[in-house]
Amino acid sequence: MKVLVAGGNGQLGRELVARSPEGWQVTALGSGEMDIRDREAVSRIIDELQPNLVINVAAYTAVDKAESEPDLAYALNGHGVAHLAEAAKTAAAKFIHISTDFVFDGRNYTPYRLADRPNPVSVYGASKLEGERLALAFCGSDALVLRTSWLYGAQGQNFVTTMLKLMAARDALRVVADQIGTPTWTGGLSDAIYRYAGLEVSGIQHWSDAGVASWYDFAVAIQEEALALGMLEREIPLEPICTEEYPTPARRPAYSVLDKSESWRLLGIQAPHWRVNLRKMLKELKKL
Ligand SMILES: NC(=O)c1ccc[n+]([C@@H]2O[C@H](COP(=O)([O-])OP(=O)(O)OC[C@H]3O[C@@H](n4cnc5c(N)ncnc54)[C@H](OP(=O)(O)O)[C@@H]3O)[C@@H](O)[C@H]2O)c1
Repeated sequence: MKVLVAGGNGQLGRELVARSPEGWQVTALGSGEMDIRDREAVSRIIDELQPNLVINVAAYTAVDKAESEPDLAYALNGHGVAHLAEAAKTAAAKFIHISTDFVFDGRNYTPYRLADRPNPVSVYGASKLEGERLALAFCGSDALVLRTSWLYGAQGQNFVTTMLKLMAARDALRVVADQIGTPTWTGGLSDAIYRYAGLEVSGIQHWSDAGVASWYDFAVAIQEEALALGMLEREIPLEPICTEEYPTPARRPAYSVLDKSESWRLLGIQAPHWRVNLRKMLKELKKL
């Protein structure tokens, strides 16, 4: 299997490289090697490499900044995806594109199913929805769009690494408690992506770890697990707050849990509870 990963320097990109199946040839390119906004460069590189599979984890992921840079967000999360999908189609490669729970508006109170209508409340979410549409339009039956949520991994900047730094430096923290989703370890997601690569599945699917949490619950778990592993020296008070008390430029869905039942059926595996994977990630991080 010859795989091209677009966005290879990101947290998910690095994990995909680290966990690539034995015998698979994985080429991971960062923005310096393949700028997905450059249609010709994307087409040339994919034509030269002739992969069987293109995985896109390159994206404009700065949710708040996207509100003031919509053109850039759409250039990457929309048009960039179209360039990759088009070139993958020409090379007869399968295309797996990663999308987000932020395509939903968060008004649900039960997990979002595949049939639920997206209705993004931010520029980031809208640009990612446009990417989903373009992936399927350009690559059709060879494209799989995999939505996921609240990603973190040992390699990269994310909520876990930020919390660990803040918990070590501050005497108390306030964390939003009224946004509900599912933290998802990039390690488990990478394994799921590679499993999907072996199946003839197209269209949209959902993958995240199991269970639900607020950012506050997630922070509490991070502190407890990190203390148990000796990664923090002392416990600090964590205060649950409302979204209004922590205003941000971008709106975020209040509830964005994904229904993964179809993925679990197709892949024949069930994701572990997010806290199990949090422990795995922290152990990995401790070793780095
Ligand atoms: N993070 C989350 O919580 C979350 C949740 C749900 C879904 N997702 C989705 O999951 C995917 C992976 O996210 P992530 O957290 O791994 O993101 P990330 O760490 O922010 O990585 C994104 C990568 O995109 C690359 N990139 C930026 N501009 C580019 C360009 N013009 N051409 C090519 N590559 C470019 C960057 O490459 P360089 O470093 O080389 O510049 C960066 O490494 C994304 O599709 C994201 O939307 C993320």
